[in-house]
Amino acid sequence: MSGADIGGLQTFPDALQGRDAWLDPFDWYAEMRENAPIRYDPTRQTWDVFRYEDVKTILANDDEQFSTSPRNIAGFQEPPEDEGFLLETMLLQDPPRHGELRSVVEGAFEPRSIRELEPRIRTLTAELIDEALVDANGELDVVDALAYPLPVIVIAELLGIPHDDRDQFKRWSDTIVRGADEDVDPEAFVQEQQQAGQEMAAYFLDQIERRRQQPQDDLLTTIATEEGESGQLSHREALGMCMLLLIAGNITTTHLITNAIRCFDEHDDDLFATLSDEDGSLSAAIEEVLRYRGSVQAMTRVPREDVELGGKQLEAGDGIVVWLGAANRDERQFPDADTFVPDRSPNQHLGFGHGIHYCLGAPLARLETRVVLDELLTRLSDITIAPDADLTPVRSSFIYGVESLPLRFERD
Ligand code: HEM
Repeated sequence: MSGADIGGLQTFPDALQGRDAWLDPFDWYAEMRENAPIRYDPTRQTWDVFRYEDVKTILANDDEQFSTSPRNIAGFQEPPEDEGFLLETMLLQDPPRHGELRSVVEGAFEPRSIRELEPRIRTLTAELIDEALVDANGELDVVDALAYPLPVIVIAELLGIPHDDRDQFKRWSDTIVRGADEDVDPEAFVQEQQQAGQEMAAYFLDQIERRRQQPQDDLLTTIATEEGESGQLSHREALGMCMLLLIAGNITTTHLITNAIRCFDEHDDDLFATLSDEDGSLSAAIEEVLRYRGSVQAMTRVPREDVELGGKQLEAGDGIVVWLGAANRDERQFPDADTFVPDRSPNQHLGFGHGIHYCLGAPLARLETRVVLDELLTRLSDITIAPDADLTPVRSSFIYGVESLPLRFERD
């Protein structure tokens, strides 16, 4: 998800503040897995869960014992009617509404439907690379050139945002999803973000209304008109769905691409020269990136009833952070867990979650990442991260990635 506070619990633990900790939280995870695998942090008034089995147990019991809805957190305050649309989305809803909402768009994200998008995603990727190469001079920032714009364009096309509105759509999305640069005044940025959120909400509502009057062959029409088990989505639900699809799949995919490049660059073998789309080695390596340096490091949960877990007593309404990134480095599940093994098998990582909330966009994220990396590997040679690159991490302990990634290369 984005760095935005959608779970209501996203204050970071003291140990994970600042550049070094954001770039390398893995030693802290290891210490916690061994010494405090399920712990209560009184400062944040939150439980933290670090081991693979415990994280998986929680995610597997979302339908009964645990909830993703911040409304179940003790003391939750309902936002005003014209805010908080994400509360009405599948991500933050429990069964039965969760399944009803998910079923509205599930068909569009099935592997079969997503596979059909590959030629179009290849064309878009090739266009973005060509554009970037015009002034590249042997170096390009892969975030600005590719990893950031591609997911925004793809989701805009899937939703059916009219071509003329794409630039405006991208500007709102940049402000809402991408976050502030370090030199921007944080207060002014929050205001700018709120305004972009309101403008985009008004835009989506207008588009939804138009699709109700005049259906088209796009995802906005499905969201606007699909009769789920309990009828059409409410305005809040339809709007929340559009915002969720935009927010959930953007930065997460951007960072899967950049995290992959960092993993390949650091590996002893020349992975840029050996990985291939044809023999499946590229896809296997992408799965390993999701385990080793997943873009989503943590998710939040709330017990619906008092629960005992690993000898600890969790109470209904407590906040829980499940550390996917720590679970994915657990030696009990992954031999040699702190090593990047490009052909690791089996690889039951939790990078896309687990259970009923398992990432709806996983097939799309995998496809976009595979296509971008394949096009880069095929069209450029001698790829390396620029030696003087100063990696700036995303300022979050929930999202893992870097703000920019300058590459050096030769053209084939
Ligand atoms: C859910 C990760 C890309 C849409 C999730 C969850 C994770 C995740 C961990 C589970 C949340 C939870 O259990 O609370 C990622 C990563 C991505 C990615 C690492 C890219 C590398 C996408 C894309 C889309 C998307 C491209 C769609 C355009 C969703 C939705 C959910 C979700 C709608 C909620 C599913 C539900 O509640 O049933 N994602 N995601 N994601 N993701 Fe993704």
